[in-house]
Amino acid sequence: MARSLMGVRVTGWGAYAPDLKLTNAALEQMVDTNDEWIMTRTGISERRIAAPEETTASMAAVAGLRAIATAGLAPDDIDLIIVGTLTPDYPLPSAAALVKEAIGNKHAAAFDLAAACSGFVYGYRVAHGYLASGLAKHALVIGAETMSRCTDFSDRGTCVLFGDGAGAVVLSASDEPGGTLGIELTTDTAATYSIWIPAGAAARPATAATVAASEHFMRMRGGETFKLAVRKLGSTAIRALEKSNMTLDDVDLVVPHQANARILEALSKIQNFPMERVFVNIHKYGNTSAASVPIALSEAVAEGRIKPGDRILLVAFGAGGTAGAVALQWTANPDDRLRADGIGPKDVRILDTGLEPVSPFPPALEWIRVGASGPEAKGSPE
Ligand code: UT7
Repeated sequence: MARSLMGVRVTGWGAYAPDLKLTNAALEQMVDTNDEWIMTRTGISERRIAAPEETTASMAAVAGLRAIATAGLAPDDIDLIIVGTLTPDYPLPSAAALVKEAIGNKHAAAFDLAAACSGFVYGYRVAHGYLASGLAKHALVIGAETMSRCTDFSDRGTCVLFGDGAGAVVLSASDEPGGTLGIELTTDTAATYSIWIPAGAAARPATAATVAASEHFMRMRGGETFKLAVRKLGSTAIRALEKSNMTLDDVDLVVPHQANARILEALSKIQNFPMERVFVNIHKYGNTSAASVPIALSEAVAEGRIKPGDRILLVAFGAGGTAGAVALQWTANPDDRLRADGIGPKDVRILDTGLEPVSPFPPALEWIRVGASGPEAKGSPE
């Protein structure tokens, strides 16, 4: 017998981006690239880089606390914590377990979700299932990445693209009208190895040889990824809208994964959808993978681009050929974000391992962190 499902709505949102900026001008000093190429081919002007004491879990916890405060809840009101990430602090425990401890939640189930740049949208889908079926009342869904720790800063094909940060929403079960309208997830195996990190896991465990061959850094076949991204973002978005009995004409704002401004422009042209109704903040953050959609969502609300009653489309594409889209009607008061004012890194502490500390900060970026005028100035660059 069919059971009636609960509605699910966004009640809290929040984001965190580290202070340190990696500009195109700085990249010009590190690899054979230039501001004009990066701007015209990607739309990126700068990205944020996590400080040595920051990790995926610490940034996720700040974004999570902000989302919980925005929702008017306490950390222990959360029943489920999902962190979409490809850069967890450790292979285990999960970043979500560290976040749970850091925010002082006692009873939530917490786990990571591996769907690369689509990780937040996949996490939304999973949490939606829990909430709609009555298994949980409030879920914290986070997308968080420290991409700078898996980027090869001598590879101009990837190092200009990625940045660090975290974004989060609280999803709550509710029988009021509005909220989530339709969701679609897909995984296209044509892109299985289009973006990948060859070593450091079960198929190619870390050895001196894998490290020497830079196999712990992300690799990407940009051109084929670009074409597939345009196709899959479009088809997945349309399917989520069909499930919501909507068309693109009904959408007030698309909040897409920020991989490349040209991907979004191509999509807008193919779908005949105006760029004015596509939220773009890639110039400030680059591609923050799973964090990009929830960071963009938080900024869109803060900038007054989303009001109660608006119909919003979240859509993402990422490694492994994952793609996902969520159509929803916004119900929250945008001013609720003010409840999170004052929450920051000082409010979270990740449980210490007791191991001798190492600096996880990319050596190639050390000169920027210390305020030197160029990589040469610090002596021998990596
Ligand atoms: O988040 C998950 C999804 N990720 C994506 O969707 C990323 C998709 N891919 C892309 O965004 C684009 O393919 C890139 C931005 C990665 C590359 O842009 P492109 O327009 O596809 O450039 P390309 O790879 O076709 O390279 C064109 C030229 C090449 O030189 P030649 O062979 O024409 O002489 C590259 O070597 O641009 C060169 N190039 C660069 N030049 C200056 C590649 N990277 C750079 C660079 N600066 N950083």
